[in-house]
Amino acid sequence: MRIIVVDNYKEMSKKAAAMIASQIILKPNSVLGLATGDTPLGMYKELIEMYDMKQIDFREVKSFNLDEYYGLEKENSQSYHHYMIKNFFSNINIDKEKINIPNGKAKNIKKECENYDKKISDSGNIDIQVLGIGVNGHIGFNEPSVDFKAGTHLVELDEKTIKSNSRFFNSIEDVPTKAISMGIKTIMNSKKIVLLANGKGKADAIFKTVKGKICPEVPASVLQFHNDVTIILDKEAAGKLES
Ligand code: F6R
Repeated sequence: MRIIVVDNYKEMSKKAAAMIASQIILKPNSVLGLATGDTPLGMYKELIEMYDMKQIDFREVKSFNLDEYYGLEKENSQSYHHYMIKNFFSNINIDKEKINIPNGKAKNIKKECENYDKKISDSGNIDIQVLGIGVNGHIGFNEPSVDFKAGTHLVELDEKTIKSNSRFFNSIEDVPTKAISMGIKTIMNSKKIVLLANGKGKADAIFKTVKGKICPEVPASVLQFHNDVTIILDKEAAGKLES
């Protein structure tokens, strides 16, 4: 694991964007694995600026998002489809046909999940996967007690996750209790992984991910097994690593 500690959120976002940009410059038809949530918003902003300055071109890029809430229409303003279009895709020249996000309204969820993993492997697997991390150590929506061998699947969201994500909804009752998420196996098949975390609230999860034992109770700890992981942290998220 390569750990990079920077001063603040802006620096974290810039470093992550630089990694994605160099991936695209080296391989214009890269397969990107993308995350939602608060953490990568700054990175998307930086990438949009680079695109505006003609430093990167997304025309040949293919993307796969980590997850989507189960039961939400794509058009729902809380869906991850909506988030991605608003915060990233509508601002760059990615080909719509090359965007992949699990369909939370799929009739046959098992098939949806199998097809998603097949599409990823048929694309030659993800070149670089961006991850945030939950306060409970989740990656994607792989919650504590995860099965490390699982591919994309339907997940029951953890209480902590529902509480944390309720900040985006009118009330906690509105937060979906299930999601479709890439599994740990899917994530671990990525050639490179970059995990971002900022703020004090993530310090404990980061400590357990980097220094703790590898166990299903801390899903992100599995990343210790991957041979190309970069973790970019602001000082607060790195706060417990020093000792
Ligand atoms: C998002 C995702 C989640 C988030 C995590 C952190 O697609 O898969 O694992 O990365 O919950 O969320 P934020 O960034 O909002 O703290």
